[in-house]
Amino acid sequence: MIKVGIVGSGAMGSGIAQVAATAGHEVVVLDANPQALQKAATALAATMAKLVEKGKITAEKAASVTGNISFVSDIQAYAGCGLVIEAIVENLDVKKKVFADIEAVAGADCILASNTSSLSIASIASVCKAPGRVVGIHFFNPAPLMELVEIIPAVQSDDATVAAAKALIDSWGKKTVIAKDTPGFIVNRVARPFYGEALRIYEEGVADMATIDWAMTQLGGFRMGPFTLMDYIGHDVNYVVTETVFREFFYDPRYKPSFSQKRLLEAGWLGRKSGRGFYNYAEGATLPEPAKNEALGQEICNRVLVMLINEAADACFLNIASREDVDIAMTKGVNYPKGLLRWADEIGIATVVERLDALYHTYHEDRYRCSPLLRKMAAEEQTFFA
Ligand SMILES: NC(=O)c1ccc[n+]([C@@H]2O[C@H](COP(=O)([O-])OP(=O)(O)OC[C@H]3O[C@@H](n4cnc5c(N)ncnc54)[C@H](O)[C@@H]3O)[C@@H](O)[C@H]2O)c1
Repeated sequence: MIKVGIVGSGAMGSGIAQVAATAGHEVVVLDANPQALQKAATALAATMAKLVEKGKITAEKAASVTGNISFVSDIQAYAGCGLVIEAIVENLDVKKKVFADIEAVAGADCILASNTSSLSIASIASVCKAPGRVVGIHFFNPAPLMELVEIIPAVQSDDATVAAAKALIDSWGKKTVIAKDTPGFIVNRVARPFYGEALRIYEEGVADMATIDWAMTQLGGFRMGPFTLMDYIGHDVNYVVTETVFREFFYDPRYKPSFSQKRLLEAGWLGRKSGRGFYNYAEGATLPEPAKNEALGQEICNRVLVMLINEAADACFLNIASREDVDIAMTKGVNYPKGLLRWADEIGIATVVERLDALYHTYHEDRYRCSPLLRKMAAEEQTFFA
């Protein structure tokens, strides 16, 4: 079994280390900050103790997982690794430097991977002497619990690198999907309208946020409403992802960020973690009540849903991922109640196109343009799945 190196012992690095060690690999975790390393070691011990206490794993298994991981400060520890996964700060220049440094110590057959959420794998790989060994391996937070992993080949990646990375991560009990090296890959791209269209509906005054959240959970079947979810993720993360995706897509209006969310970020109302976001989380604060108007709720739900389906269909149209992988990504990466393309089949693609066209005719904004794939499929009476 290969030795696995992890760079960065933050939320993602320590979670990925736990997954690899649980699969039986010897793992070395390096962080530039000794306190972060110490914190990760303490947190790992606490997680293992909790899993034993809950009866999820035996004490022997916990000891073997802890024993498999060493926390190091010397980059030489990556010599002999078969795979190194980088999970450090989301900054291209810092990542490039780290990749060049790692390549200098890692063996020629070592795969170098980045867990980046938003940077291009091609640009990270460009600093390596052998860029063919670089690939994106994008875990979701928390890595030990989330089953989905996006595998992102860069233009430079060798086929063998991609196949080996996929096979290895599959062997860790994860569900891998292959995504093109484009902004947001699959999940962070296709999910944008869940936030963006809900914000637009709110800004237009069609409904308040409690009613939108109620519609999406009670009528749509989503686990959390968009406003609750944005507050949960934190506006420092969720807003920044939206802004990055918008910029990286050369300002396609479909991804345009909203002022309502930007102002929250500027105010320091980051969501649950700061006690205030769209909702007030202070003790004793009363939460707004939804209107619970079924007709309005259904209208909201249909509008957000067709925008999500449009995004999923367009990702297929542009060959970002296969139909199967798009549906797997959204059900396993963000726990959607159904795959969006299967949902489109259920609603009927002609109905989806009709609803999108109605929005386009109302607003005359490019944001509401229907994917050519949906239009063609509706005309030919096709479905996404047999
Ligand atoms: N948090 C998420 O929900 C999430 C999900 C998927 C992917 N990601 C991506 O994973 C990466 C890490 O995110 P995170 O949330 O774990 O961040 P984090 O801030 O929790 O941890 C990053 C760690 O990297 C360390 N670090 C910074 N520069 C370093 C360097 N040059 N060498 C070694 N260590 C260094 C820091 O000390 C810190 O401990 C980012 O690229 C992020 O986009 C994050």
